[in-house]
Amino acid sequence: MMLSKNSNRLMGQQMFQILDEANKLKLKGKKIYHFEIGDPSYDTPKKVVDSCIKSLRDGITHYSGSGGLEKFKKAAVKRFKLSRKFEPNLNQILVTQGANVQIFYSLYCIADAGDEILISDPSFVSYLSIIKMLNLKPIFYNLSEKNNFQVNLSELKDKISKKTKAIIINSPNNPTGSLLTKENITNIFKIAKKNKIFLISDEVYGRLVYEKSRFFSPSVLDKCKTTTIVVHSLSKSYAMTGWRIGAITAPSKLVEKMQLLLETTTSCVSPFIQIAAIKALNSSQLEIKNIVEDLKEKRDLIFKLISKIENISCLKPNGAFYIFVNIKKLAIDDVKFSKKLLKKRGVATCPGSFFGRNGRGYIRFSFATSSNTIKLGIAELKKFILLKEYL
Ligand SMILES: Cc1ncc(COP(=O)(O)O)c(C=O)c1O
Repeated sequence: MMLSKNSNRLMGQQMFQILDEANKLKLKGKKIYHFEIGDPSYDTPKKVVDSCIKSLRDGITHYSGSGGLEKFKKAAVKRFKLSRKFEPNLNQILVTQGANVQIFYSLYCIADAGDEILISDPSFVSYLSIIKMLNLKPIFYNLSEKNNFQVNLSELKDKISKKTKAIIINSPNNPTGSLLTKENITNIFKIAKKNKIFLISDEVYGRLVYEKSRFFSPSVLDKCKTTTIVVHSLSKSYAMTGWRIGAITAPSKLVEKMQLLLETTTSCVSPFIQIAAIKALNSSQLEIKNIVEDLKEKRDLIFKLISKIENISCLKPNGAFYIFVNIKKLAIDDVKFSKKLLKKRGVATCPGSFFGRNGRGYIRFSFATSSNTIKLGIAELKKFILLKEYL
């Protein structure tokens, strides 16, 4: 039996294949140092777990409205006010199962087959997967280390055509750990507005910034009324990746359509998960403060250790929990390097080329792990390089 052309366009997320490979080696008794997946090793705050259990016991286990609980939306508005100094209307918010699906919902509702979407190279893998799945055309703009991974505005302008429907930006960035400057983002916003295209700002790492004042969201420029769409979830900052919960903020006209899409495909987001997320959003944010402080120490540790290894280099990340290591001097393909590093030294990483052509010659390490794993894993990396085991 033949499957559809649609199914042939599905790409998935390659890092899950590395996780599978690492777990297979682990089952064979190999010691594995995990740096490959963007999943914080912290526990979800206990009060959030307790609140979920209580909701389950209280019988909050039925369908809820497809747009999300009003209480959740109000909590999201409160957080916007604190972090971005404006209050979106409730009809500008849609509660979703995490952030990944928000990219799908938004692109589905703003672009038709053949339309163009501008994404960075390198970028988070789902953007390309979703663009391909929807039969849209990815147009890449370059991010380069020598330009501090900032967006080159003249290149961006040149790449806009009559078919462009949206620009996606992601700051703090996966995989580079860099932040776009306020000036860079403001100019990108102006380009989007002038060309009447959407600016999708993926802010899932928005709270994980090592100098708070440097985070800037384009949403403050239009309050998500015309141009900006903010992609956000509780996955990364509250260590809630497995809960699948977040909210997208966008112009109300678009939210109305995305809600119909959610209603069509998933009916609603589990109400007991939403209640737990409200607890996370509304109560003391001390856990997040502690997580950011802890991650900052880990960032400093991994940066120091990697900087001491000859022939590889990296920029110090300003946000998220990724460090993008340049291995170009070793003149070896990054996929081969990553595979051998896992096989020989048990260090699981992500090859940069998974994120695009400009990622070639880089390896991404996620440092949201224990200090011990960082020390031992990077010591293994050092030996691997010194002994030229990558050859
Ligand atoms: C940049 C970026 N956006 C979105 C996501 C997806 O987040 P969620 O787990 O909330 O779907 C990730 C996950 O790694 C990411 O790195």
